[in-house]
Amino acid sequence: MLNSIGLQNPGVEYFMEYDLPWLRTQDVAVIVNACGSTIEDYVELCKILNKADIDGVELNLSCPNVCAGCMAFGTTYDGVKEITKECKKVLTSKPLIIKLTPNVTDITLTAKAAEDAGADAVSLINTLLAMSININTRKPYLANNTGGLSGPAIRPVAVRMVYQVSQAVNIPILGMGGIINGDDAVEFMLAGASAVSIGAGNFIDPYTSVNTVKGIEEYMKKHNIENINGIVGKVEMN
Ligand SMILES: Cc1cc2nc3c(=O)[nH]c(=O)nc-3n(C[C@H](O)[C@H](O)[C@H](O)COP(=O)(O)O)c2cc1C
Repeated sequence: MLNSIGLQNPGVEYFMEYDLPWLRTQDVAVIVNACGSTIEDYVELCKILNKADIDGVELNLSCPNVCAGCMAFGTTYDGVKEITKECKKVLTSKPLIIKLTPNVTDITLTAKAAEDAGADAVSLINTLLAMSININTRKPYLANNTGGLSGPAIRPVAVRMVYQVSQAVNIPILGMGGIINGDDAVEFMLAGASAVSIGAGNFIDPYTSVNTVKGIEEYMKKHNIENINGIVGKVEMN
């Protein structure tokens, strides 16, 4: 999927008042993905979310569709370190996950910055900056010209980056990028992800997450695995 939807949403107060109560009726952990345009925005969001009935905060430092927004912080060691440090000061009661962009030369640098500034985990990857052109009109399909590429096409890139980050940091990794079934999830875990996340797969089939869990269980049965944590990072490199 190539998307350019930006980050429009009704805001954190609305979310807490109207969406969160329903989410809390479900038997799952709630991790809030948050994004702003300035460091002050992020800090303010973390202050508010610190008091919310949620299980963690994931900071999106990596959306390719927001001009001069998150991407500006998310692509350098200093930018990621600064924002993580400031948010960590106010987000005292929840785990802080830093979501990394793949649109960098070396993703281990930004992962290290998050770890150095006290992040509890990193998540990767966000979408890859991409473009598609209508050859008849000669115009890009997206009004924004470029957008973020997600889904199975990006999985090998994501797996490579998860593996590289797992070699560079000691905090847990939440892996994502093209997962649509249990086998894909297992691949990320072997590369070093302690947990996985699914985005575009939900657009193909809203039951993708449920089926992925079943697929992981089938893999465990087939390979006589009692505890799935045992496979994390267990890729055997050639
Ligand atoms: C329609 C769409 C909207 C997204 N919105 C967000 C967002 O608000 N915050 C964020 O951190 N990532 C966002 N992403 C990125 C995904 O969470 C994920 O990191 C990326 O798409 C790779 O995983 P996937 O292939 O499973 O989608 C979005 C992706 C898609 C396709």
